[in-house]
Order: sequence, then C-alpha cells, then structure tokens
Amino acid sequence: MVPSRVTLVDVGPRDGLQNEKQTVDAAVKIELVHRLQAAGLREIEVTSFVSPKWVPQMADNAAVLAGIERKPGVRYSVLIPNMKGLDAALSMPRAEWPDEIVVFAAATEAFSHKNINCSIAESIERFRPVVAAAHGHGIKVRGAVSCALGCPYQGEVSADEVERVVRLIREIGVDHCGIADTIGVGTPKRVQAAMERALKHYPVAEVSGHFHDTYGQAIGNVYASLEVGLFTFDASVAGLGGCPYAKGATGNVATEDVLFLLDGLGIDTGVSIDGVVDAAAFISGVLGRKPVSRSGNALLAKRAAAHAS
Ligand code: HMG
Ligand code: MG
Repeated sequence: MVPSRVTLVDVGPRDGLQNEKQTVDAAVKIELVHRLQAAGLREIEVTSFVSPKWVPQMADNAAVLAGIERKPGVRYSVLIPNMKGLDAALSMPRAEWPDEIVVFAAATEAFSHKNINCSIAESIERFRPVVAAAHGHGIKVRGAVSCALGCPYQGEVSADEVERVVRLIREIGVDHCGIADTIGVGTPKRVQAAMERALKHYPVAEVSGHFHDTYGQAIGNVYASLEVGLFTFDASVAGLGGCPYAKGATGNVATEDVLFLLDGLGIDTGVSIDGVVDAAAFISGVLGRKPVSRSGNALLAKRAAAHAS
C-alpha cells in the first residue's frame, strides 16, 4: 500500500548547482533556497563542505549557509566528506549550523576512489568520527549510498553490494540511509530489490530514494519505491543535478515531476507545485536554459496560454 504522506528533500542547491560549469553567485543560491521554502519544502540540501579543489562550485558554502533566512520548521542539510568539512560547518555561529549533515559512501570501490579519493573501508573510517561529532552536537546524520543501481566505472551493481555498504553505515551510527542511483540506470524491480536490502537495516522512515533521471526511469523508480512503503525522496528543482565524478549522468528527478505524480495519487507533501515551478523558472532563467521538468514546462505553457487568452 502506498503511503498517504511523502517528505521531499530538495537537493537542487547542492546536487544541482555542484555540477554547473558557470559560477552561480551565493546570492542566487540563497534566493533559490528562499523560493523553495516559500513553496513549502521542509527539507533542503543547501550546499556541501567538500574540498574546493575538487568541487569549486561549492566553495561559497559558508556564505550560503550564513545568508539563508531560516524558516521555522525547515531543515537545512549539507554534504560532508570528512572531519575537515564538519569542523568548517561547525565553526560557523550556532544559528548558522546545518540541522542535518549527509555523508556519502559508494557501493563500488571505483566510484569511491573517483569521488572521494579513498576506498569504501577508508571512507567508513573517515565518517566514523564525523558521525560521532555530529551526534555530540545534536545533528542528525543522513547517509547516501552512491552508485546503488550502477557505476560509471564498474557497471552493474548487485543488491548484495548495496547491502554491504548499508550495513557499514548502519554500524557507524548513520541515522538515515539514502539509496542513490547516481547515473540513473535503475529500473523499478531492481530499485525495489535495493530498497528491500536497505529496509533490512533501517526503519522505513529512515530510508529514502535519490534518483537521477539519465535514462528517464526516475519517476517510475519513485513509484516503485512507494510500492515498497518508502515515503522520503530527494528531488531537484528544475531537474538540476549531476555529479562531477559521474560523467554523462544527468540531473535528479525534477521536484515538479515528483509533485505532479504525488498530487495525482492524492499523496500529501505540503509543497505547492506552482511554487516549485516558479523557483524552477527563477534558477533556469539565471542559468540561461529551460527547466528539464516535463510537468513544470507543461504548467508554464498552460500559464502562458491562459495569460495570452
Ligand atoms: P583528498 O585530495 O584525498 O583529500 O580529497 P586531502 O585530505 O588530501 O585534501 C586535499 C586538499 O583539500 C587539502 O588542501 C585539504 O585541506 C582540502 P591543501 O592542503 O592541498 O591546500 N580539503 C578540504 N577543504 C575544504 N573542505 C573539506 C576538505 N577536505 C580536504 N572538507 C576529499 C578527499 C573527500 C576532500 C575530496 O575527494 C572531495 O572533496 N570530494 C568531494 C567530491 C564531491 O563533492 N562529489 C560530489 C558530491 S557526491 C554526489 O553528488 C552523490 C550524491 O548526490 C548521491 C548520488 O547521486 O550518488 C550525494
Ligand atoms: Mg546525486
């Protein structure tokens, strides 16, 4: 039975903008976060504290975190690869700390090396003190298991490989497990198999799906995850997104498309699709291109037609 309520985490400001060739001003990122929270998003991944040598697009992390006018009830998260990143986030004034952090491991050795320059086992040892320190400060830790449905360097990934990493992040105390299809090759049955492995180690409230849409399967994969009971999904305004270390992978499933699906199923999210369409038009205007969301573009065309008549 599909759930009656779903939580959406908009990862556009982080996953989306980490992959842009052009420089996006911190002020634009902050405005995007403001528009997302005005649309009703209650969880927003705002930036990452990774090495600026690796991902220069996120070098303004502190300015972004500091510039957001926080809205009560909204949780702001950031991606953290190591203690250096956590220390940087926690060196900010208390009111500017993230509410949650996200550590990211890979299901394959090759992607782990390409993305964070270490083996899976080494990454777990790096995360161990990060998790302990975050918990010591009352900060929740989400985990992402990248390449859970396929790896750009190693090919197909089995559910066993996914479960192995799920177990490892569980053992070090990561509170939440996001299953990520980094390159968007997953299809519904395989996604369900991966989710079922995660559900052996985490309660359903602490498992989420993070689907890139490279092969157009992301909406089907959200629905497949609903069927196995999941009710938390990452999505990205305007379908922004990608990973600089997963060449060829396109953006995340667009928040507008997920909302059109969920609204149609009568599933409550508390998020206004019109508000997200506006936020998508804003960021796409800055980036100089159209949003990739089919639903978002259809709604914009409908608005334009109504305006013209
Ligand atoms: P490294 O080169 O092995 O690390 O990188 P290092 O410790 O040798 O440090 C190298 C330099 O970076 C040093 O500076 C450090 O101080 C600095 P130098 O001494 O040369 O001047 N440094 C840092 N600076 C700021 N903040 C930090 C930090 N750490 C080191 N936290 C490292 C290892 C993990 C740092 C690097 O590989 C890295 O930053 N990788 C991040 C890559 C990334 O952000 N990828 C995209 C996000 S993941 C993703 O998109 C997937 C996801 O969406 C889910 C999915 O779709 O799969 C989450
Ligand atoms: Mg991603």
